[in-house]
Amino acid sequence: MIKKVNIKTIKLIKFYKFINYNLIYNNKAINRYKKDIFQISGNKSDELDKLKKSISNIRNCELKNNATKMVFADGNPKAKIMIIGEGPGSNEDQEGVPFVGRAGELLNKMLASIDLSRRNVYITNVVNYRPPDNRRPTEEEINRYLPFLKKHIEIINPKILVLLGSTALNALVGNEVVISKARGKWIEKQFGECKTSIIITFHPAFLMRQPAQKKMAWTDLKMIREKKSKLKI
Ligand code: URA
Repeated sequence: MIKKVNIKTIKLIKFYKFINYNLIYNNKAINRYKKDIFQISGNKSDELDKLKKSISNIRNCELKNNATKMVFADGNPKAKIMIIGEGPGSNEDQEGVPFVGRAGELLNKMLASIDLSRRNVYITNVVNYRPPDNRRPTEEEINRYLPFLKKHIEIINPKILVLLGSTALNALVGNEVVISKARGKWIEKQFGECKTSIIITFHPAFLMRQPAQKKMAWTDLKMIREKKSKLKI
């Protein structure tokens, strides 16, 4: 028996072909299409690729020579909140992703406490290769990676920049400031075209060693939450 296909069905088939029906995964009125929340414009993703390539071209660096993998970034490149740590540890070195070890677990909890996650922040470090024995990067190493870090900030263009610990503080704000004085305050700063509000707070690894300081970190986190809501992020 030949089944008659009415004109409405034909139109519907044409429409599905037109919109590339393979992309449909949900038949509800909303969320009908697969959506990649991390999908970024050509420009931004090209610039990030270029930056990654420039970092991988660094020569004669003890950090790079001893590391397993480059640790570039994690999170959402479209995020308006960017977080900067010190440098990869051994878990990060193995996986090539920042903050995946114990400090990362605490960072995830800190973010969750103010309704954030890696879906709405972008995370990187001052140096992109693990310092041997988890030592602090030297002044020379910090300065070697600083132009890349500044470019990274310019590309992401965050409204809020969270510096975790004194290495990030010294690299981006200056050596003359100490974290106990600098934390919990907003500092306005510009990197290229990117105007951003910086807040410094304690590094999660430090908070694991000094849990009594979590009270202070919570004050800083609440400031981030307030700013986020003021800026409608
Ligand atoms: N500590 C950091 O500063 N960065 C990481 O990626 C992991 C631990």
